[in-house]
Amino acid sequence: MQLIIADDYNQFSQIGAEIVAQTIINKPNATLGLATGSTPIGIYEKLVEKHKKGEISFKDVVCFNIDEYVGLDKTHPQSYHYFMRKHLFEHVDTHQNNTYIPNGVAPNLVDECKKYNDVLAQNPRDLQIIGLGPNGHVGFNEPFTPFGSKTHVVSLSRATIEANSRFFNSIELVPTKAITMGISQLMTAKCLLVISSGKHKARVVKDMLFGPCHPHMPCSVVQLHPNAIVLLDKDSASLLPQEIK
Ligand code: GLP
Repeated sequence: MQLIIADDYNQFSQIGAEIVAQTIINKPNATLGLATGSTPIGIYEKLVEKHKKGEISFKDVVCFNIDEYVGLDKTHPQSYHYFMRKHLFEHVDTHQNNTYIPNGVAPNLVDECKKYNDVLAQNPRDLQIIGLGPNGHVGFNEPFTPFGSKTHVVSLSRATIEANSRFFNSIELVPTKAITMGISQLMTAKCLLVISSGKHKARVVKDMLFGPCHPHMPCSVVQLHPNAIVLLDKDSASLLPQEIK
């Protein structure tokens, strides 16, 4: 596992974008696993800048998002479809046919999960970006989700609903369910890019790296990945032992 600690969010985003860009430069038809949340926004901004400067093209890149809220359609400003268009897809040259996000308003969610599992199985990810929930969730895999899980519908925990309520006008408007790629599917990526910024994640980061590797802390599964890069800013790294910083 490689640990990178950036001085601030700007440097963190620059380094994250560099890792993604290098993946695309090395393999123009790379398959990426993408995350949402506030943490990767800076990485996407820098990727857009690189694209505009002609350094990278997403023309042949295939993108799979980890998760989506159940009940929010693509046009809802808090849907992850909308997020990805706003922060990345509409500013680069990705083909719509090459971007996959679970459909949170599919008439049959079980079928939707199965469809997502099938397409994921056919498209192994070269690089998977993973953010961390304040309770250690990855995607929407909440504490105690089995490490062997595949795409499934999840009832969001109170902690997640509270954490994500900052994006909605009121907590009652936060969906209570989501579709998420399973932990086993995050882990099959050739490389994991685990990202965290901010002091509020420092405890989770410490548990992820030094706590028991156990489903009660879903992100601790990264300890088992043969090729994980953990990219933090100083604040998120603040509780790590001095000798590794
Ligand atoms: C949501 C997403 C996760 C993401 C998390 C972190 O819960 N489902 O995939 O990692 O937010 O969000 P933030 O980056 O805003 O802290």
